[in-house]
Amino acid sequence: MKSDIEELKKLIIDTAAMQIDLPITDNDIETIAKEIESIPDQHWYWCTFRESYLICLYGNDDVNDKKNMKWLLAANNCTKLKDLCENFIFKMTTVKPRIIVIKTFAGMQMREHTDCYKDQLDKLEPKMRLVVKGRKKNTLYFVNEDGDRVNISDEWRSYIMSGASLHGMQNVEGEKLTICWGDPWVGDDLQNEFFVNFIREQYQKYLSNAILRSELGNVDNEKGIKDPKKERIYSWEEWNGRKKT
Ligand SMILES: [Fe+2]
Repeated sequence: MKSDIEELKKLIIDTAAMQIDLPITDNDIETIAKEIESIPDQHWYWCTFRESYLICLYGNDDVNDKKNMKWLLAANNCTKLKDLCENFIFKMTTVKPRIIVIKTFAGMQMREHTDCYKDQLDKLEPKMRLVVKGRKKNTLYFVNEDGDRVNISDEWRSYIMSGASLHGMQNVEGEKLTICWGDPWVGDDLQNEFFVNFIREQYQKYLSNAILRSELGNVDNEKGIKDPKKERIYSWEEWNGRKKT
């Protein structure tokens, strides 16, 4: 049994991205998108690293404190999203994950980046994503060893991904909103039975369409690592005021 878990762990680490099913309908997704759209612009931030807007809905002020998080004020009207998290997502993790939404507009290009630091590149750190708006044309892509882009399928509403593979996104059409459950299984080491059962089922269903890191080849993922000295976030007002001057 232990070796089964080790195998699963290796497979998850090797998964750049794979489609998963979440227990929600297209109507639910539309509702969640509307809830997020109703959040006033001034609650959003500009992230120079990802080159996109973002907002934290569940979390705290200290990025290193992964234990004491709560629903934040901006999430007050996000009832459907809260339902999904409380009834499903949070059951899958020992520590409830920070929840961030990434927003881009047509014409924006998310920088090719790696979501983790060097010492985390080969650790078990799958992240979960749900695209609630703008999925069809603006798909996430990974970079392979030839420098080519390997796009995820536009059919994938939700997926797990390793932040350790260099990835980016070109927004060619309309606003895109992606919900990100960050570092959901850090320190968890596949001890959560609900998650293990769920993910095994998903691998049976979707592994054949997954993008695997071993298939992307020898990619210089380190070049996409964040330099905390250079990167920062700006409030909506600060960033949009800056652009005008
Ligand atoms: Fe990312």
